[in-house]
Amino acid sequence: MESSRIAISIGVTLDRFIRSNEKQYPQSVGEFSQLLRDIALASKVVNREINKAGLIDIMGAVGNQNAAGDEQQKLDVLADIRFTRALSKGGAACAIISEEEEGIVQLNPDAKYIVAIDPLDGSSNIDVNVSIGTIFSVYRRKSAVGTAINLEDCLQPGSAQVAAGYVLYGSSTMLVYTTGQGLNGFTYEATLGEYVLSHPDIHIKPDANTYSINEGISKSFVQPGIHVYLNHCKEHHYAARYIGSLVADIHRNLLKGGIYLYPATIHHPQGKLRLMFEANSLAFVVEQAGGKATDGEKRILDIEPTQIHEKTPLFIGSLQMVEALENALVGN
Ligand code: AHG
Ligand code: MN
Ligand code: MN
Repeated sequence: MESSRIAISIGVTLDRFIRSNEKQYPQSVGEFSQLLRDIALASKVVNREINKAGLIDIMGAVGNQNAAGDEQQKLDVLADIRFTRALSKGGAACAIISEEEEGIVQLNPDAKYIVAIDPLDGSSNIDVNVSIGTIFSVYRRKSAVGTAINLEDCLQPGSAQVAAGYVLYGSSTMLVYTTGQGLNGFTYEATLGEYVLSHPDIHIKPDANTYSINEGISKSFVQPGIHVYLNHCKEHHYAARYIGSLVADIHRNLLKGGIYLYPATIHHPQGKLRLMFEANSLAFVVEQAGGKATDGEKRILDIEPTQIHEKTPLFIGSLQMVEALENALVGN
């Protein structure tokens, strides 16, 4: 069939890939495809702003304003505005919940998709030219179309995600996403202004030897099993790799194998990462690649959220590594 041939061809544009997938659902009215296109568009705008980050700092230092005369804003706030604007104009989202917004942002009441977003992940790395990202999830509303979105619409478990993914603004910019039928990665070709399929059907190694954790704060890890697992990593001479941008750490581990850990700490008893904006999306992504994501007791995707901004411990990556961590937690 032509559509499936297009879907797996390296070099096919994201737009074409989305369209060919849409054709497999004859009842589709294209709303979901529009939503993905809007996310991709906003990410290109954010990519452009990120590439100017150093320059803006210099201009700011000599008291200049940008071309539009705007006062410069922090990049994570700017990214939030860019995604909200694109999704609002596209009309395919009924609401957004964002790490940068306290409550629900209502958009088109006649649309059926809710977007949860961490517009700029790894913001402490912006100033130092290190990879950062955007993380997103898409849910279907529960309430009737035409009404305002309520909290119950938003507080759905990760297993209810219709799609999820991330954009990595790195040595190249990539958009990686899933709709529950495998995981595909697209690289941004700036001269064409297009994402092209570069990493079809991504699979994570079931076992590997890289671990990613902020070990500098290990004295504040509250579960003894974490220390047992970290000792296991050292005894086996695993490589420690920690960028401090969740998207970048997960992306590397997806492609090379590895485990990422952000456990509960004395200062963050529920861990630091947000369930709705970071953990759920990346758990869906990593599971689609054959990996695993847990809070140490429960599959991340099965957690019933009670608040939009709630946090969770996160252990995610290669299947056997996450299982070894779980064993260390149980046995200690
Ligand atoms: P954000 O920039 O969206 O606030 O997220 C930062 C997160 C995540 O990207 C990263 O892995 C983690 O914070 C780093 O935390 P530590 O500095 O405590 O290691
Ligand atoms: Mn983040
Ligand atoms: Mn953020």
